Amino acid sequence: MPLPRLDGPAKVTGRARYAAEHPAGDLLYGVIVDTPVARGRIERIDVRRAMAVPGVVEVITHENRPRMRSLDLFYKDMTAPVTGSPFKPLHDDQVHCSGQPVALVVATSFEAARHAATLVEAQVAAEPHQTDLMAVRGEAREPSPLRAGFKPPPKPRGDAEAAYAQAPVQVDAEFHHGAEHHNPMELHGSTVIYGRNRHLTVHDKTQGSQNVRWVLSRVFGLPKSRVTVKNEFVGGAFGSGLRPQPTVLLATMAALKLERSVRVVLTRQQMFNFGHRPESWQRVKLGAAPDGQLLALTHDAVGATSRKEDYVEVVVNWSSQLYRSEAARLGYQLSELDHYSPMDMRAPGAAHGVHAIEVAMDELAHRLQMDPVALRLKNYADHDYNEDLPFSSKELRACYQQAAERFGWEGRPPAPRSMRQGRELVGWGMASGTWDAMQMFARVHALLRADGKLVLRTAASDIGTGTLTVMTQIGAAAMGMAMEDVRFELGDSNLPVAPIEGGSSHVATIGSAVQGVCERLQHKLWELARKQPQSPFATCRFHDVGFAQGFMFLRFERDVTVRLTDILAAAGLKELEEKYLMLPAVLKQKKYTRAVHSAVFCEVKVDEDFGTVRVTRIVSAIAAGRIMNRQTARSQIIGGVVWGISQALHEETQADHRLGRFMNRDFAQYHVPVNADIHDIDVIFVEENDRIASRLGAKGVGEIGLVGVAAAVCNAIHHATGRRIYSLPMTPDKVM
Ligand code: MOS
Repeated sequence: MPLPRLDGPAKVTGRARYAAEHPAGDLLYGVIVDTPVARGRIERIDVRRAMAVPGVVEVITHENRPRMRSLDLFYKDMTAPVTGSPFKPLHDDQVHCSGQPVALVVATSFEAARHAATLVEAQVAAEPHQTDLMAVRGEAREPSPLRAGFKPPPKPRGDAEAAYAQAPVQVDAEFHHGAEHHNPMELHGSTVIYGRNRHLTVHDKTQGSQNVRWVLSRVFGLPKSRVTVKNEFVGGAFGSGLRPQPTVLLATMAALKLERSVRVVLTRQQMFNFGHRPESWQRVKLGAAPDGQLLALTHDAVGATSRKEDYVEVVVNWSSQLYRSEAARLGYQLSELDHYSPMDMRAPGAAHGVHAIEVAMDELAHRLQMDPVALRLKNYADHDYNEDLPFSSKELRACYQQAAERFGWEGRPPAPRSMRQGRELVGWGMASGTWDAMQMFARVHALLRADGKLVLRTAASDIGTGTLTVMTQIGAAAMGMAMEDVRFELGDSNLPVAPIEGGSSHVATIGSAVQGVCERLQHKLWELARKQPQSPFATCRFHDVGFAQGFMFLRFERDVTVRLTDILAAAGLKELEEKYLMLPAVLKQKKYTRAVHSAVFCEVKVDEDFGTVRVTRIVSAIAAGRIMNRQTARSQIIGGVVWGISQALHEETQADHRLGRFMNRDFAQYHVPVNADIHDIDVIFVEENDRIASRLGAKGVGEIGLVGVAAAVCNAIHHATGRRIYSLPMTPDKVM
């Protein structure tokens, strides 16, 4: 059912409080001092001038910070230990990347702290650094595949190189993708409230309150009961809140040292210091028969990582999962750079990997003089040949059909440069998208109260995706209650255990847990009702009863009803509590590949004189299982499409390799689309109902909206201009 966000009014009127907006008595403000040096050693930090500023309480550096236990041991990235050693703020005199914090100035006002921060003098002895992926990618190495959820490339099928060499039609393409930085509207920040009995209430911008609590309590040696982490409202995160950020460690460090409440919030420029989508290089080779049958597919990628950690993501595997090729070989390697560790960003890996395969497929279609959709259908994978598993469901074929029809693809002249409108060339392109359908585990507690209200509780997060709304909806639908009578509580580490909100898995995970606890509650209500004297439900079975409008009724005799609150009253209960732990059906799921799919069709208008591209029309057809709320799901896809356009045309963080520093670190220089860049976006949800992916039949819609969009834009630019662009963003200098 399409329903607007329950938290919409609170957000647009400013009543919703974000992490750095929570008030606290006697609050101190921490401002980070960072170094522009890419690699080196801190020789001396002079804080005297900063300390002399009225209002400054302390300047914390590696020399006077409180003791911390090992982040190497206790840092958690999603569900797995990281491979390597995470960045430790103010740990020692080593400088690992440009933008690294070297001091935290703490003052009674933000202004004093900010001013004093400019007066801290850090003398850093620079050492040689390397931030140029293209210069070192030749020496790339295999990654350590320790991270949970990371699948190394599958074993080769056949001899792909030999098959490629003999193939009648060949495509060999190299791709470059620059780094991108997460820029949610809400900056990373934390307000740590130092309360009674030294209890810390930490309002943090995070995608998982319990993950942050775990790290803080372990690293600072605090009992879990001394730390509560809250993230009721999150103004976007896109993966930047999967890992606890240095802000929360710094704010907590200061609060513990000074025994005061402390807030630390990044500036927009500092948002470019703590993680990014890694730069990557890729090469795709496709060999095909004249009829389009793929004979060979190779896909190699080198991703950037830091010297401290192996950041790994699935980049190449999607290619041979999307297309059936007789021979296939995939490779994925890493190169270490002196940047901060890369981090998951919306559709990590797929955003680059699927771009490369989808552009290469378009090029192949062009060489074969074959329709791009027909080429994809010719090599359609009804089965996951990587894993030799069936798909739990895969309606990608229907995505192609429905999106093509809505777009009007049939009228497309095959040759590039055949459509023009005024001074603009017009091009139509398409691409496929795919992403995993994941499910984690979660607990939900339900409380049905005598006043007829249902409270559902779990430490889920709503990073702006609509979790609150959708979970309330699932609970209300399951119990046959009005939305107003259901309250969903989230965003607090004291609530029952829930995973981080990431990987587009929250609906399949938390939603299934909500469904599960509601079914338990129904069962309990049925048991209570049938025990009443002369109960009309005495002999009925559980599946004979239904729930609607706050009543339980007999399915075959609809006028036999009882109000839920009357069941409680008759049993002498003030409230009824149920608990449920949702564990994925792993044994069943293991027999399938679970994935979501999309088909993206795009129209561009290109002004050749200026090299400017306008994306005038996008149709995105999504197959992502059952859609629980068409309105919030559609918003997710639109957001993804906008980001895809951004990747295609605008976003890139460029490093000056002499300085080893990302240079364009604000919205004046790091470009994202504005309203005027966005035209028609049409979202189609293709029907799927996947009971293997989750008991709700839902898979998840967060990341898929992005995947394939930039490829569709690239392919449309080729159709408009005859020009193939192999790197993103496709800025005017490349298009001209
Ligand atoms: Mo996302 S990159 O799963 O937050």
